[in-house]
Amino acid sequence: MEPWRTIIEPFRIHSVEPIRITTREERERALEAAGWNLFGLHADDVLIDLLTDSGTGAMSRDQWAAIQHGDESYAGSPSWYRFLGAVTELFPFRHVIPTHQGRAAERILFAVLGGPGKVIPNNTHFDTTRANVEFSGAEAVDLVIAEGREPATVHPFKGNMDVDALEKLLAERADDVPVVFVTVTNNSGGGQPVSLRNLRAVRAVCDRYSKPLFLDACRFAENAWFIKTREEGQADRTIPDIVRDMAALADGMTMSAKKDGLANIGGWLAMNDDGLAERCRMLEILTEGFPTYGGLAGRDLEAIAQGLREVVDEDYLRYRIVSTAYLGSALDAAGVPVVKPFGGHAIYLDARALLPHIPPLEYPGQALAIALYMEGGIRGCEIGTVMFGRHPDGSEAPAAMDLVRLAIPRRTYTQSHVDYVIEVVAWVAERASDLRGYRIASEPAQLRHFTAQFEPLA
Ligand SMILES: Cc1ncc(COP(=O)(O)O)c(C=O)c1O
Repeated sequence: MEPWRTIIEPFRIHSVEPIRITTREERERALEAAGWNLFGLHADDVLIDLLTDSGTGAMSRDQWAAIQHGDESYAGSPSWYRFLGAVTELFPFRHVIPTHQGRAAERILFAVLGGPGKVIPNNTHFDTTRANVEFSGAEAVDLVIAEGREPATVHPFKGNMDVDALEKLLAERADDVPVVFVTVTNNSGGGQPVSLRNLRAVRAVCDRYSKPLFLDACRFAENAWFIKTREEGQADRTIPDIVRDMAALADGMTMSAKKDGLANIGGWLAMNDDGLAERCRMLEILTEGFPTYGGLAGRDLEAIAQGLREVVDEDYLRYRIVSTAYLGSALDAAGVPVVKPFGGHAIYLDARALLPHIPPLEYPGQALAIALYMEGGIRGCEIGTVMFGRHPDGSEAPAAMDLVRLAIPRRTYTQSHVDYVIEVVAWVAERASDLRGYRIASEPAQLRHFTAQFEPLA
């Protein structure tokens, strides 16, 4: 073992992208023009963009080289076969259906399996997953363990499913449950991992009720790293082996390659069931395209195939998880309330704890996210009452937590960028009592956080 404590970026910079420094006045004008919704900003006006880790990472030299091998044949492209080989090496499901991103896979699957009267359990549905379930007329139920709902509670696998709650749901409504989902890592619950042991227990319940188990596997490699480093008996195993174990416990998966595919676009739906695959492929052809390209160009399939090889590299994963924790530890040391332990792809600030004077229905997460942009040009994302507070029946209620997610794009920012983020967040947190809440001036019927317009309260 080398004696060095510093985990460096395991790459050097090959091409650079300028970022623009703005003034506070410029940022205030930009916010007003965007209706105080950070999704409405011009990205040029953002200094450090931590809105999402989805599709925002840097591709490697070898991914750009792979893009040159992109074959754009409509059917049976060699790029498709390279993609299929890379996917099935980790996830050996019988059917792989490429899609332009994760939500397209969700849309197809829930169009087939969802519908009125159905209920889909998950540890925590991501927003698009929930929206696609509900759009089909089905009900989305979150059954994460109790610790997963408590921002300050430390637990090695806070993304675990509450197996007793799943059993209870199935005992009461087995006929209404077409599929059980587990999201790895659990994004909406703080990027928290799920253990192999928990997946096995969920599998056993699914078997008792003859229900298929699907993974929402967007961050499968980060989840596997946590299993390797936190779960008993896993330390000496390779990441691909752990991933294959996760896959072997499931009957299928949805995937956004914009996360652990290390690509800027792409996804897939995979499964073992021949009949289900046939119905899904029918829908795929309607909206995504022929089944050997889905919604993707051949070059995208190549970038994903190469990305899947790189994402399971242990030097990469160690750097990824340790550098995310670096941000979390520094904020924690500065007294900023953060979700613990730190997730894989993001640090979540607990806005409800930081801003007790702003009630949930005045959106403390939104207030904090806006302040980080206004003061330091940092764009994070509210994950709380704005995102989850409006229900299909039109009612509004506080979400379980009001968080601001600082998602870290993969291989994109350096430690000095992160040091700047730490300084800005700590500065805003020291002045937390000056922040005020917001009201929503207008909102769409679904997924309101993307386009709602806000007004600052006096
Ligand atoms: C857990 C989870 N599921 C599904 C999705 C949807 O994927 P996409 O953005 O590619 O549609 C995301 C995206 O952030 C996610 O984090």
